[in-house]
Amino acid sequence: MKADILKLLLQSHAEGDEASFRKAALQLAAAESSAGHVRVAEEIRAIIAKMPATAFRRQGPVVDIAAPRGELADILEGGHREERLHDIVLRPESEETLKRVLSENRSRSRLERFGVQPRRRLLFHGTPGCGKTFAAAVLAGEMGLPLMTVRFDALFSRFLGATAVQLRAIFAEMPRRPGVYLFDEFDSVAKARGDSQDVGEMNRVVTAFLQLVDADMSGSILVAATNHVELLDRAVFRRFDVIVPFDKPTREQIAELMKLRLSTVGLTEEATTRLAAQAEGWSFADVARACDDAVRTMALDHREKVSEPDVLEALEELKRRNVPAGS
Ligand SMILES: Nc1ncnc2c1ncn2[C@@H]1O[C@H](COP(=O)(O)OP(=O)(O)OP(=O)(O)O)[C@@H](O)[C@H]1O
Ligand SMILES: [Mg+2]
Repeated sequence: MKADILKLLLQSHAEGDEASFRKAALQLAAAESSAGHVRVAEEIRAIIAKMPATAFRRQGPVVDIAAPRGELADILEGGHREERLHDIVLRPESEETLKRVLSENRSRSRLERFGVQPRRRLLFHGTPGCGKTFAAAVLAGEMGLPLMTVRFDALFSRFLGATAVQLRAIFAEMPRRPGVYLFDEFDSVAKARGDSQDVGEMNRVVTAFLQLVDADMSGSILVAATNHVELLDRAVFRRFDVIVPFDKPTREQIAELMKLRLSTVGLTEEATTRLAAQAEGWSFADVARACDDAVRTMALDHREKVSEPDVLEALEELKRRNVPAGS
């Protein structure tokens, strides 16, 4: 009996269902009472009575947004982000674009006074490991909003008929939880549209997505990220206010990333320039991985400074393992 109540308590807590949580707590008090533990029962009831009313409010403005719960939990991941613009290496024009989008969204009411809205539908496209997902985290970090990532793979692995329903549930969540909504690996919509046996159903999903994007008045920032921009048709493109390309880094950008990651552990500017030449053609993600490997070596050696050979060795090791894609 008590085990059931405890299970209910835990479950309702896990699901954020405050009403059931309260009910289970009262049941616990009743069980204690009928077992003759009158004092314990009274103590439990006193605790329940002291719980602030706000703890039972399920809706309303959500400021501190925890991970999504209930049915959305496995298709929507949410969390606060620490990434900032100074953490990411971007082409100057892309950096300007993102800064501008941030200013517009920070000055929403000012814009609205003149009858315009901030641009908030962004399409990030380009090579793997070049910062699409990272840039979405940067937007979230800069705005102080949680990054809500929609897991398209999970969305599509389910029974296809339910996909449009789940998409609708996500869009219904947007006005309730302000955030940066990242529709990552967005091409799986378009790809599935091409490959799926059930093309009719897939088209319905894409159409539903586009309608939801059109109808969305939430004010949340919506980012779609894809490696395969060529799979998207014009109807999809038209929905986005801002399109940002993410390319493989130039040699200068590789050096910039190395500096970002390794100057605090003593790597000199001249060394980064020399090392960057060794990683030409790599993605940002692979360069970042080599930097982390070098720091690991340094730490294990009980050193405080990373050396040029540490980084060189890390780069060589990754090359031996054929890690850098396409090089
Ligand atoms: N432009 C960049 N500046 C700084 N670091 C970067 C950049 N791009 C990638 N990184 C590093 O590489 C990691 C992986 O990059 P990210 O996940 O953003 O790539 P992506 O473009 O989303 O790739 P995919 O197409 O495979 O999803 C980031 O977490 C970050 O550490
Ligand atoms: Mg990504």
